[in-house]
Amino acid sequence: MSVSVENLSVAYRSRLGDVTAVDNVSFTLTDGEIMGLAGESGSGKSTLGNALIYLDARMKQTGGKVTLDGKELPIADSKVMRPKRMTEVSLVPQYAMSALPPTRRIGKLTGDLLKSHGVRNRDEVLAEMKRRIELIGLKEDVLSKYPFELSGGMRQRVTIIMSTLLDPSLLIADEVTSALDVSTQRAVGEMLLEFRDRKFVKSIIAITHDLAILAQIADTITIMYAGRLAEKASTSTIVDSPLHPYTQALIASLPEVGVRHDQTTLTGIPGRPPSLVNPPTGCRFRDRCPFAFAKCAETPPFEEVKPGHYVACWKVSQEEQGK
Ligand SMILES: Nc1ncnc2c1ncn2[C@@H]1O[C@H](COP(=O)(O)OP(=O)(O)OP(=O)(O)O)[C@@H](O)[C@H]1O
Ligand code: SF4
Ligand SMILES: [Mg+2]
Repeated sequence: MSVSVENLSVAYRSRLGDVTAVDNVSFTLTDGEIMGLAGESGSGKSTLGNALIYLDARMKQTGGKVTLDGKELPIADSKVMRPKRMTEVSLVPQYAMSALPPTRRIGKLTGDLLKSHGVRNRDEVLAEMKRRIELIGLKEDVLSKYPFELSGGMRQRVTIIMSTLLDPSLLIADEVTSALDVSTQRAVGEMLLEFRDRKFVKSIIAITHDLAILAQIADTITIMYAGRLAEKASTSTIVDSPLHPYTQALIASLPEVGVRHDQTTLTGIPGRPPSLVNPPTGCRFRDRCPFAFAKCAETPPFEEVKPGHYVACWKVSQEEQGK
């Protein structure tokens, strides 16, 4: 098992007090697993992804533990985490492709990045970068280009190559296919699969609103709602037979497979996710759930109801127990 996250909680310090954007989250990733992480805007996907790599000054770990390849990953200890970034864990942040500094050529930019991570054999690594650029069908002259000379899709692919150059164990790819046209999205998805298959990276968490791209690349899908995990299962189970009422609504609201889903609200269910500043007790989907009953005033545990299928819902656990 390459990654294990146990009861992780992460909060933002804010004027209104702590905002717990990741609340008691637990899941595991097996070696080679590509896990899609989906959910409405504001559900805590980026906070969870970022927390595994880099807790910035506004964020703090308020509970739980992360293990990578059998060793604890001290995510709250920035000194210890720094050398692990790029080598053991790596992040392509949301909006990364628009964040490349405009005045440095890609090759120079990568050289600087490697230097800042204390990499000595930079020429060798840059030669490997050239190889990987060609592998995914781009020309090696990308290295001598400025970011603005590349299309969005090329920049995104170059960003992913840079982030995985030192073969990290875990890659977090946050919305790497958003804002790209459908054929480029597919190319980026294929690239993630290829990099996993060639073991440039051991496992991947692909964060996205877009369930169609996850259907293409993910082995498993985890659904997040209001800072907590609602369901995790194989991609085919989530798409064809989800159990959590929220996942069912999310899947039902997809017009058809292959169509982008980036709405901030569900079409079939009235209401919005609760605020995380002062969240309600019990199941956070309760106000919108057509099946809510008295028990839902308590927080449902995220538990394995079938092998490899985890759900946080009282209705589901009662039904599974009754079988
Ligand atoms: N700096 C901050 N201070 C306080 N709260 C924050 C801060 N940044 C994010 N949040 C809160 O944390 C929650 C989760 O935000 P996050 O960006 O992780 O969601 P997301 O699922 O990635 O959304 P999106 O799909 O829009 O990218 C949101 O409800 C947001 O209000
Ligand atoms: S725990 Fe209750 S309110 Fe929450 S999703 Fe299940 S049935 Fe609905
Ligand atoms: Mg996000």
